[in-house]
Amino acid sequence: EAIGPLDAQRPAPLYQQLQQAVRHAIERRALKPDDALPPERDLAADLSVSRITIRKAFDGLVAEGLLTRRQGAGTFVAARVEKSFSKLTSFTEDMAARGRKATSSWLSRAEGTVTPEESLTLGLSPGAPVYRFHRIRYADGAPMALEYSTIPASCLSSLEAVTTSLYQALAVSGHRPNRALQRLRAVLFNDEQAALLGIAPGAPGLLIERRAFHHGEPVEVTQSYYRGDAYDFVAELNDGP
Ligand code: GLP
Repeated sequence: EAIGPLDAQRPAPLYQQLQQAVRHAIERRALKPDDALPPERDLAADLSVSRITIRKAFDGLVAEGLLTRRQGAGTFVAARVEKSFSKLTSFTEDMAARGRKATSSWLSRAEGTVTPEESLTLGLSPGAPVYRFHRIRYADGAPMALEYSTIPASCLSSLEAVTTSLYQALAVSGHRPNRALQRLRAVLFNDEQAALLGIAPGAPGLLIERRAFHHGEPVEVTQSYYRGDAYDFVAELNDGP
């Protein structure tokens, strides 16, 4: 049985226990992407809880992006977003390739000057003007990642040039990157980051730092913090040295 019994004696509300049970079933792959969940009526009977409890638990998991509802067909485990590790694509393109709509909201957008550390990682002269874009990224309205981008001001026509897609704005000004270095690290979200993404504090995430270049000229350094429960990074490996 993918979803185990709930315990009315435990302090956690039943709907939260059910959410935990579903999350664990997804983690240990007892429930896989696109698997159907049992109908709410059946599950309520099996677990001896009300349909309202099932509905409330599922609503939360849909909002988290772990489950999706399909009109007239029921509730399914959401397909995780797979991100190729070897293509120089943008968030907007990654989502579009999976039929999902990318949006973002601004945490901040400001002009500044390059820090000593950035001047090293980006190869810019100290004090060079930069734009800083801090965003929450969404897929079909569900929060997926936090992104902190630093862009040399010379690569964009203005701070306002970026509306939804940074890479589109870079393309318009002739600076779309054609090469990047990427570093991947496991992180735990702190309270503030978790609140922005609507997930539990301490939840695991993936930090991807990208340094991107347009024919050798540095165009971005971005730290992207992706939700660990919503992203798979996939790499194609070939043999040979
Ligand atoms: C990915 C990359 C970032 C890049 C972003 C641009 O998330 N990891 O380094 O800045 O895509 O995405 P968009 O063009 O949608 O703003």
